[in-house]
Amino acid sequence: MPSPAARVATRTSVFTESVIREMTRLAMLHGAMNLAQGYPDFPAPAFIKEAAVFAITSDINQYAITWGSPRLRQAIAAKTRRFYGLDFDPEREITVTCGATEAMMATMLALVEEGDEVIVFEPFYENYVPDAAMSGAKLVFVELRAPDFAVDPEALRAAFSPRTRAIIVNTPNNPSGKVFTRAELARIAALCTEFDCLCITDEI
Ligand SMILES: Cc1ncc(COP(=O)(O)O)c(C=O)c1O
Repeated sequence: MPSPAARVATRTSVFTESVIREMTRLAMLHGAMNLAQGYPDFPAPAFIKEAAVFAITSDINQYAITWGSPRLRQAIAAKTRRFYGLDFDPEREITVTCGATEAMMATMLALVEEGDEVIVFEPFYENYVPDAAMSGAKLVFVELRAPDFAVDPEALRAAFSPRTRAIIVNTPNNPSGKVFTRAELARIAALCTEFDCLCITDEI
């Protein structure tokens, strides 16, 4: 029996080692080529390094605003407008997080109630399991099959119910590489409207 201090909370007991990290560890152990994890094999561009050095020498060292520096949020709003034609208010509708992992976890914790159903397309990025465990969500899977991983409209509709709180759409998808078509996204949007649920997109 582990000591109380060593025991983990029930909700985290389902956590396993990350498959990506495990594959990286095994590839290093056996000298294998690592196809599990992407690393940049080039240095950061000089202008990024210079900006970091400038921030350090300018004593920009105070707590950041919790939801992201105003200049960064304004730049994100401008990019979203330029690329997607969507207008978001950088003061109220954009939050900066430490990566997509934190964004997904924070979104699930903030919006999903214990026992709510959240639809996920399978195969899926592994972190959605711990996201569900922490937020109390029950994951409902919709399987996509190789080679094209097309969405079966019947299977998608069958996954929705009055208990559905959200659907996670990861496009381009990890691990399949599938990019959801405009028609598929429109179908998902229509079902979200019909069942009054959220679409959480992970577009890393
Ligand atoms: C679909 C998806 N979501 C989230 C992440 C994690 O992103 P981050 O490193 O920004 O936390 C990854 C990383 O590969 C990913 O593929």
